Amino acid sequence: MEYRVECIRCGREFPRDEIVYTCTRCKGLLDIKYDYSSIDNEGILKSKGRGVWRYRALLPFEEWSRPVTINEGDTPLYRCDRLAKAIGIKNLWVKHEGLNPTGSFKDRGMTVGVTKALELHVKGVACASTGNTSASLAIFAAKAGIPCYVLLPKGKVALGKVAQAMMHGAKVFSLRGNFDDALRVVRILCEEENLYLLNSVNPYRLEGQKTIAFEIAEQLNWNIPDRVVLPVGNAGNISAIYKGFLELERLGITSSVPMMTGIQAEGAQPVVRAFREGRAEITPEPNPETIASAIRIGNPVNAMKALLAIRDSGGLAESVTDAEITDSQLLLARLEGIGVEPASAASIAGLRKLYDGGEIERGERIVCITTGHLLKDPERAIAICEPPEEVIADVDAVRHALHLHT
Ligand code: F0G
Repeated sequence: MEYRVECIRCGREFPRDEIVYTCTRCKGLLDIKYDYSSIDNEGILKSKGRGVWRYRALLPFEEWSRPVTINEGDTPLYRCDRLAKAIGIKNLWVKHEGLNPTGSFKDRGMTVGVTKALELHVKGVACASTGNTSASLAIFAAKAGIPCYVLLPKGKVALGKVAQAMMHGAKVFSLRGNFDDALRVVRILCEEENLYLLNSVNPYRLEGQKTIAFEIAEQLNWNIPDRVVLPVGNAGNISAIYKGFLELERLGITSSVPMMTGIQAEGAQPVVRAFREGRAEITPEPNPETIASAIRIGNPVNAMKALLAIRDSGGLAESVTDAEITDSQLLLARLEGIGVEPASAASIAGLRKLYDGGEIERGERIVCITTGHLLKDPERAIAICEPPEEVIADVDAVRHALHLHT
């Protein structure tokens, strides 16, 4: 597949076999560019493959490489009429990325990123993570047979995610600091120790994640939704999905892009602040805090791309409180049977808030992306639900208890 690596700020190009994450001249973020005139639309519209690699016509890899894959992608897009009614809107779908093999959307990026790692013959892969990135990377590294090192903010990563990273053989470090500290440290380590960095500053990750847009478009028969709403942490996913929609438009497969709408937690909302104040860059928040630990990030590395995505698409950015997140997590679970971790519920909470505030129209066709599975954070689920009621092993006793609840 022909492609090139380019700085989004100054346009500098980098060779495909150079290990580089940001522009060596201006520190700008990098992007992967294709020669769109050489891409065969039929290859995208009628591809017989499954999941992420079904869209290989728009993915960066060398002809000789064999993708490291665990069947990521192909997640369901649920029509959610009961939830729509509760919110007051008419057309709502949820794209449940929690149903990826490791339980989050990160798998889409990792299949491309770890395939690239093998192409580059690196000696190991590494990341900082609020949890899901580390779980996914650990599993793909296991599949690829390469060492994996992960830095997690101490005491702030949901149980299921730590269990995954440990179980699949990553070397896990519990860093005394937050995610932003961990990312700062791992970026330097990767450069100095010849490890391959697989946080979303790595542009190959985002190429895999843009397939969320391709799947949404395809699942809606190539009719683009009016709006896509998703949680924003390190701000890679919203940038990737926007790019996916832009590519479909550019290829003439679709004729519009959705309004990209990013939701952050009230205690960690640098992108929302920059959006409101009309700034192109964020002011980092030194002490981000939220129960949605996946998006507890104060200095999102892809903020510049995300702000472009939101503004250029006519989208919105909104923040929600932890209580609003919890409320929406329960609503989604109980009205639609979709179990998600708190960060994912931020998308629903944000949609509700924006609709109630008159910023979203009732008739819009809206897709919310739920990014991680409920079982990633079982402790939170147990904390917000009523505990099981203990009963003795006797029919009448259970019947009595039952009648108290009916
Ligand atoms: N939702 C979940 C469940 C996540 O794990 C993340 C990010 C996001 C949303 C935000 O996505 O960073 O692309 O804006 N988790 C990263 C991690 C930071 O380390 O697992 P983003």
